[in-house]
Amino acid sequence: MFRRASSQAHLEPQLDPLLPGFSFNTHLVAGLTPIEKEGHLDFFIHRPEGMQGYIINHTVKGQGLVLGDNVQHPCQSGDLLLFSPEAIHHYGRHPEATSWHHQWVYFRPRAYWSEWLKWPALLAETGLHRPHEQEAALYSGLFSQIIDTVSVGGPYSEMLAMNLLEQLLIRRQQAVADPLQRQLDPRIHAACQYMNEHLGDNQWEISDVAEHVCLSTSRLSHLFRQHLGVSVLKWREDQRINQAKLLLSTSQLSIASIGCSVGFDDQLYFSRVFRKCTGSSPSEFRQSFRRQGCEGQR
Ligand code: FCB
Repeated sequence: MFRRASSQAHLEPQLDPLLPGFSFNTHLVAGLTPIEKEGHLDFFIHRPEGMQGYIINHTVKGQGLVLGDNVQHPCQSGDLLLFSPEAIHHYGRHPEATSWHHQWVYFRPRAYWSEWLKWPALLAETGLHRPHEQEAALYSGLFSQIIDTVSVGGPYSEMLAMNLLEQLLIRRQQAVADPLQRQLDPRIHAACQYMNEHLGDNQWEISDVAEHVCLSTSRLSHLFRQHLGVSVLKWREDQRINQAKLLLSTSQLSIASIGCSVGFDDQLYFSRVFRKCTGSSPSEFRQSFRRQGCEGQR
């Protein structure tokens, strides 16, 4: 479904960290990966074994898509993702976006950083920090400084880059510890995760989600709206429709089976909800996506 980097063995050592085959046998590397649709970097990065160090990846333009076992998470401008060494790396440009530019830093952490590397999980072993608008410039600034410092090189560059990275981790820690800027309630986060994992299953009710996160149904509904500004059912519907859009644009599956896979057994009902959310029917959406693709290839 997604274009992958070639896994061909490289006879020569690969010196470009943006291309497959780079060894990452170092303590710190940083860079910017500017993926443009159909450009030479437009492939899915796939490292099924994880890496030896950690990575923080920061979206600066366009949209990326991070794939997990049965889930996919789009990432948008400002998002910071933390991949621990055990995390499977499988990500690339979101098929609906024309670009995905992300800054990244690969590093072996200092021992005392361990507390600062526990981020709320997006997927197993992959954390997410979605900064508040006011913080966005801070992270972009620190990231750019890390990349510049590494590219200048010289005896102190790694030490300085580690120092900037430490600032970035402390800033995030400070933001999440501040009650005014506290991140998503872990129970709401767990509820979202549960629903994402059961998107195709239409047997469950809000009370199942509530039970899973040890809240009463009414408490979950209240907290959910307070944190995310929408009801539980509306949130689930948005996720289903987003997933359906992705499958319509990237697969040959029939509309009925796409509907089923996102929890709508009745195709008419699926089309009705799809139209309500997107303004077009699933088949119109697919056709317009194909037309855009053909125009883009001319
Ligand atoms: C580059 C990728 C980037 C990140 C670093 C470690 O090749 O473009 O996303 O994974 O490797």
